[in-house]
Amino acid sequence: MQFIFFGLLCLISKLVNNPEWKSDGRIRSHGYPAERHTVTTQDGYVLTLFRIPYSHKLQNQNAKRPAVLLQHGLFSNSDAWLCSGPDNSLAYLLADAGYDVWLGNARGNNYSKKNKMVSVNSPKFWHFDWHEIGTIDIPAMIDYILEETGQSQVHYAGHSQGTTVYLVMLSERPEYNAKIKSGHLLAPCAFFEHAPSMAFKLFAPALGNPYNAFSKGLVDKEFLPFTLGISPLLDLFCGDRTKYYRSFTDYYKNSNMSSLAVLRKTHFAGNSNNQVLHYMQLWISKKFRQYDWGLEKNRELYGQDMPPDYDLSKITAATHAYTAHNDDKCGPQDVETLVSSFPHLIEHHRIPLESFSHLDFITAINMKELVNDLVVKRINLYEGR
Ligand SMILES: *[C@@H]1O[C@H](CO)[C@@H](O)[C@H](O)[C@H]1NC(C)=O
Ligand SMILES: *[C@@H]1O[C@H](CO)[C@@H](O)[C@H](O)[C@H]1NC(C)=O
Repeated sequence: MQFIFFGLLCLISKLVNNPEWKSDGRIRSHGYPAERHTVTTQDGYVLTLFRIPYSHKLQNQNAKRPAVLLQHGLFSNSDAWLCSGPDNSLAYLLADAGYDVWLGNARGNNYSKKNKMVSVNSPKFWHFDWHEIGTIDIPAMIDYILEETGQSQVHYAGHSQGTTVYLVMLSERPEYNAKIKSGHLLAPCAFFEHAPSMAFKLFAPALGNPYNAFSKGLVDKEFLPFTLGISPLLDLFCGDRTKYYRSFTDYYKNSNMSSLAVLRKTHFAGNSNNQVLHYMQLWISKKFRQYDWGLEKNRELYGQDMPPDYDLSKITAATHAYTAHNDDKCGPQDVETLVSSFPHLIEHHRIPLESFSHLDFITAINMKELVNDLVVKRINLYEGR
């Protein structure tokens, strides 16, 4: 019965699906050129990269255009970098500043939900978390971009999980430091001891414990597999719910309601439960470390009882952090822990607005002035512009 119901939902949502909702269609609808590239990782995942190669406003297709890679957060995809339109979203602002902009999609989201060796219906497909995105996917994307553009370095900007995977990549594969010209971490997430979000308090005691029956049941599965079908339908029936969000909480005070509506249409984009479980484990362990599989498997995998920490002192690439007071996931106290464990961090910029929150880096009406203009300015400095 359930299956018929969900099947119908998915069918209807397919009928109302609009190709303009895909990242490249969205980019072209604003007049910019858009390309779609695929990169296959060593373990078979086929990742989609979208590209804004130049700006139609500058007509700079023949000029030198340094490459920038933008990497989305958890539950998200490349649409996050586009949802506030060309006057506000970082992807367009960088294109207009003369950059060659690449938008990554992590394994498991619906632009990268394919593996040449494993079916998406197999638990093997979902046997990954942000450790693999950091150690395999991002390096593969960077190598592809360097090859394609003939450059030797890229600039990088990530939001939320997009910052975690940067930290994982550069601490686990330090040879990639040399390939990063500058890194920009929006809402950097590594430590979660003090995370104010209720989600941690409610779920982490069970889900962050590798021996717990619930966490064992969720491991190696797709996160909420039916939401792709449901979200457009919710939209259809529930209309513009976002305008009520503001009255509930301070969290959405700065939100651009139309970009939240875009996010609602394109999210949840797809991920493995393991990504969520791994974050929940960090809330419990108070450490930034690899996945905890329980004693026996840890010994086999890591040669020790507990998973090893990520060594942030190995990160030598020029890195800037941009953080928010009102971030309920990666809050100020945990940011302090990150900053003090990150010896080569160049700059920590706290957004000077008390109400600025985690999602505001992607959807706030004031994110251009408060965040994106700064990021572009910093990147320009590295380019001597
Ligand atoms: C809000 O988002 C829409 C697109 O979703 C965009 O067109 C508009 O410029 C944005 N406004 C501000 C102030 O960010
Ligand atoms: C991914 O899902 C979103 C939301 O349902 C949809 O708008 C987008 O077209 C999907 N992309 C692909 C490649 O299926």
